Amino acid sequence: MKKIFDYLDCLEEELISLRRDIHQYPELGFTEYKTSKKIFNYLKGLGLEVDMVCDTGVIGLLDCGEGPTIALRADIDALPIVEETDFEYKSKIEGVMHACGHDGHTAILLITAKLLVKFKNLLKGKVKFIFQPAEEGPGGAKPLIDAGVLEQPRVDKIFGLHIEEGIETGVIGVQPKEASAAADELDILIKGKGGHASASHQGVDAIVVAGQVITSLQTIVSRQINPHSRVVISLGKIKGGYKRNVIADKVEISGTVRTTNPEVRRTLPKRIEELVRGVTLSQRADYSLDYNFGYPVLLNSTTLLKEVEDDIVSNPLINRLKYLSLPSMGAEDFAYYLKKVPGVFFRLGAGESSRDYYPGHHPKFTFDERALKIGVGLFVSLVLGQLD
Ligand code: NI
Repeated sequence: MKKIFDYLDCLEEELISLRRDIHQYPELGFTEYKTSKKIFNYLKGLGLEVDMVCDTGVIGLLDCGEGPTIALRADIDALPIVEETDFEYKSKIEGVMHACGHDGHTAILLITAKLLVKFKNLLKGKVKFIFQPAEEGPGGAKPLIDAGVLEQPRVDKIFGLHIEEGIETGVIGVQPKEASAAADELDILIKGKGGHASASHQGVDAIVVAGQVITSLQTIVSRQINPHSRVVISLGKIKGGYKRNVIADKVEISGTVRTTNPEVRRTLPKRIEELVRGVTLSQRADYSLDYNFGYPVLLNSTTLLKEVEDDIVSNPLINRLKYLSLPSMGAEDFAYYLKKVPGVFFRLGAGESSRDYYPGHHPKFTFDERALKIGVGLFVSLVLGQLD
């Protein structure tokens, strides 16, 4: 064990420079051509079997003979944000930024691969390294699974992590079961009847109806659904109207619905539609409604987490494994892998306690780079625990 962590110390400089290099050349979902090429070449250089999948996904396989197959996943995409930090390694691509730590995830998984290759004689089984595009949307996990990344060899267990600047460096956070919310899409079109604003009774004012729909939708949580169920309905966009003296004949409303309970999630489209139908009917208006299920609830395997707990807490780089009682209401497409195989998604603490950080998706987002080494340490402990 000591030899492994000594070697990891030697790799820390490379780890940070890999992260900074990726940070400078961020790419959006499914256009990660340069990033995936770098990953491909790096893994090839380590002597792994490497495949490209879904254009920009990269899969590396370390085959150490008979035994289970453990998959480790990193997301590799960036966000359409203009970076506002003043690091010398800030984004060189205008309007694109690694503002969620996926640059760190990618570097962590590359160095994990390097380290496991070096100590492959300790392993009995296979390690699959999944470098996944488009986590920020439209979603890379599902197409990768459909393309067979969990097969040949069949993956038995999977682990992933996300950098969390809100958790102290050295601490690994984890939710025992529900870890991230499902994120579904809601689009409503209110159909009224246009007319002159001074004779509003002759038309059907879609703006007034929209107002009532919006307010009523906020009564679903707590009046129709138990507030303990954790549901958020947020309508982020509304569009309608022409001029101050014209009755609007239509209004478009778009929103997101977040839930952490799969059963509650299934009931919501019906609840929402009933409410929209009732309100529009009462106002002589009409509507159409689109409801699309997005990323599912991320459900960690509680059993597997118990099984790996010792491997984590005995890791000299990790101060503490912190159980988080509440799931994140954010969504994470790692959830799709967990619908197929047991696994755990960890929160890699990456904040100095004395500092305030801008959160993920902020133009000034940053994190404590000392966490990168801990991320590698976590993955290595998990693999050794499973394949030793
Ligand atoms: Ni992210």
